[in-house]
Amino acid sequence: MEQKAIIETRNLTKSYGEQVAVDDLSFTIEEGEIFGFLGPNGSGKTTTLLMLLGLTEPSGGWAKVAEFDPTREAIKVKRIVGYIPENMGFYDDMNARENLRFIALLNNIPDSVSLEKIGDALERVGLNEEAGKKVGAYSRGMRQRLGIAEILIKEPKIAFLDEPTLGLDPDGTTRIIEYIQSLSKDNNITILLSSHDLKQVQKISDRIGIMINGRMIALGPIETLAKEKFGLDEGEISLDDVYMKYFKEVSA
Ligand SMILES: Nc1ncnc2c1ncn2[C@@H]1O[C@H](COP(=O)(O)OP(=O)(O)OP(=O)(O)O)[C@@H](O)[C@H]1O
Ligand SMILES: [Mg+2]
Repeated sequence: MEQKAIIETRNLTKSYGEQVAVDDLSFTIEEGEIFGFLGPNGSGKTTTLLMLLGLTEPSGGWAKVAEFDPTREAIKVKRIVGYIPENMGFYDDMNARENLRFIALLNNIPDSVSLEKIGDALERVGLNEEAGKKVGAYSRGMRQRLGIAEILIKEPKIAFLDEPTLGLDPDGTTRIIEYIQSLSKDNNITILLSSHDLKQVQKISDRIGIMINGRMIALGPIETLAKEKFGLDEGEISLDDVYMKYFKEVSA
């Protein structure tokens, strides 16, 4: 398959006063891939996502998302990108079905189309039976599944998922990871997945990027990075080991 960049950044930088949150970042994400976006707390992952979405303005450099500049064409970018933020917001006093219908309206999807889509999406993430319950009473895992349903309604070209498994139990985590894999495989959505759950990231990512102190210090398929750091004959190396090796080198 021919590789085509769907996201590109060049020298992308964001400073908050003296603090450089994202430092001269240049990388690409290929169309159709699942990209695991890793790095310790405060390394600049969310800030990068916010710049790609046009929700915060870069201090320097540029980004392109599909054919758009997020700073000047934020609305166009928002139309083709689905976003599950660190704290997924829904209307707590509406039920799941009502929340999804609202999302559909925002995305100009008429009822004639959306009602069936909403039913399918709720079914696919296993929320059918609880679709009439107010979202304020949802558990964390249920909210995250509703986030996936929102992506299914919107059917964006790209989805940014910022720590979608944070605080979920092992079964909830596995389910979300399977849904993400299916968004990629069955709906052809390019995925940018930020997570600290390295085992899960290893399961589904085509490539990973490790960000430390605002810089991308490693980028590529996990096996390639493992070979670079551990040599050819080591057999299978876990992403945990690869990550810690890079992390220690930078912190040393
Ligand atoms: N609005 C803001 N004002 C000032 N500093 C900020 C702001 N947002 C982020 N920062 C700083 O920028 C740096 C990068 O933060 P960011 O949230 O991008 O990290 P992250 O990699 O997403 O971390 P985590 O894994 O904890 O979510 C941090 O030092 C943070 O304190
Ligand atoms: Mg973050």
